[in-house]
Amino acid sequence: MSPGEDDSFINPLVAGLERLPVRSTAIVIFGATGDLAARKLLPAIYNLAHDGALPEQVEIAGVARGALSDDAFRMAAEEAITRFSRRPPDADVLAGLLANARFVSGSFDDPELYRRLGEVLSGFDERAGRPLNHVFYLSTAPEFFPVITGQLGDHGLQAGAHGAQVRVVIEKPFGYDLASALAQNAALQQVFDESQVFRIDHYLGKETVQNLLALRFANALFEPVWNRNFIDHVQITAAEDLGIGGRAGYYEGAGALRDLVQNHMLQLLALLAMEPPTSFEANRLRDEKVKVLASVRPPDPARVAEMTVRAQYGPGLIGGVPVPGYLEESGVAADSRTETYTALKLEISNWRWAGVPFYLRTGKRLARKVTEIAVTLRPVPHLAFQTEGSLGIQPNQIILTLQPDEGVSVSLGAKIPGTRMVIRPVNMEFHYGTSFLSESPEAYERLILDAMRGDATLFTRNDEIEALWRIIDPILTGWAADRATPIPSYPAGSAGPAAADALLAPTRWRRL
Ligand code: BG6
Repeated sequence: MSPGEDDSFINPLVAGLERLPVRSTAIVIFGATGDLAARKLLPAIYNLAHDGALPEQVEIAGVARGALSDDAFRMAAEEAITRFSRRPPDADVLAGLLANARFVSGSFDDPELYRRLGEVLSGFDERAGRPLNHVFYLSTAPEFFPVITGQLGDHGLQAGAHGAQVRVVIEKPFGYDLASALAQNAALQQVFDESQVFRIDHYLGKETVQNLLALRFANALFEPVWNRNFIDHVQITAAEDLGIGGRAGYYEGAGALRDLVQNHMLQLLALLAMEPPTSFEANRLRDEKVKVLASVRPPDPARVAEMTVRAQYGPGLIGGVPVPGYLEESGVAADSRTETYTALKLEISNWRWAGVPFYLRTGKRLARKVTEIAVTLRPVPHLAFQTEGSLGIQPNQIILTLQPDEGVSVSLGAKIPGTRMVIRPVNMEFHYGTSFLSESPEAYERLILDAMRGDATLFTRNDEIEALWRIIDPILTGWAADRATPIPSYPAGSAGPAAADALLAPTRWRRL
């Protein structure tokens, strides 16, 4: 019997993945009154409860500076879930989830806060009649990460009682450059073992990003061509039509390179380009990612201008509505050089990819929101058709659309019906929306559940963070050295700056 016919067949690649149990847990959210907690974290926990994916007992404690009573925190959490949950909340599930929620107010560097948090956690344990696992979710500004982990260690909260597990989830940005990432890793390691640390990149929780692994490693079709012999180049696009919203304080110090390339886009590159892992066990998969990231040739700071483009959005129209340029946004310095757009050309120096350019572009206030990977194959070696028939032949492209309209499309050359042999590109398509009628969970649902389970497959390991910064640091250095060249601007609602086209010539970016 072939594996496909046998229901009990377990693909060795995924064996073990779903096997880790989810045990009763207290989730402590640092930064519980912030935007991320309201928009993503609390709704994700609710949706897990709604699906019956949570264990018997899950308790929530919010920690933040504001002075809220437990009841006020429960009401704020209920409001946030009602507003941002992907499904209208069920009153009973919501009430059950928040019934015992507690709020601990204080300054993150105040030892008294951790003493009270310890009491709250003991209270949860007493109710449960046994020690719960603890997940500390750090959804705060990054400067507080070492402060909070240090205090957790000082108060003995880094280790669980009687075999209970303690895990710490850390939001992005992890580090500001290589040196600060190294320092943050060192501070974390003083308190936690790496197996307890879950550095989050929400892109890894997206269904379509995981589907990239399925596409590559569950099909025999793609892997044989997935190399320099058949692939001409790769384009990775993460375009957004939104501006920076009210985040100038953060974004001015970050820019598009730190905000999206260092994490989400390089993760996509790693999954696309890595060697097949021997299993989907967390460290096996991450070993492969680290290997391929270490093979990305770090740009020479002196050549950064040739390999990168940076730009800022100017005023323009989004959906027909006028919007201000970046320099007019509130909180942005009038002479800011922060990039809201960047495009890069990267090369991977290994046997599989040598000579294949990987082009990455991301920007705010572009024509539309789209995240996609386009893999363009080499042209066929010989055209046997007459000239007229050959004119419409384009190299094959495999397009993975991560959002919106998630799916995969393969472009092929096909004969136009008729008496003549004339060829034009057509698309073979798979859309999530029509192939699977169920709604995908949000990335944070998958990731919070994995952290509760202790499955770090979709989280970034310490050496991986460092490998990511080793690619970005020389670009930051090259840019910092050039304070004179004006930063080009592109109209809001456009496809980005003209300079980005030169980076690819004679190839072209896919149309936005
Ligand atoms: C975040 C960035 O990590 O990702 C934001 O800080 C960006 O600036 C967001 O808008 C994009 O995420 P998504 O899931 O909407 O593509």
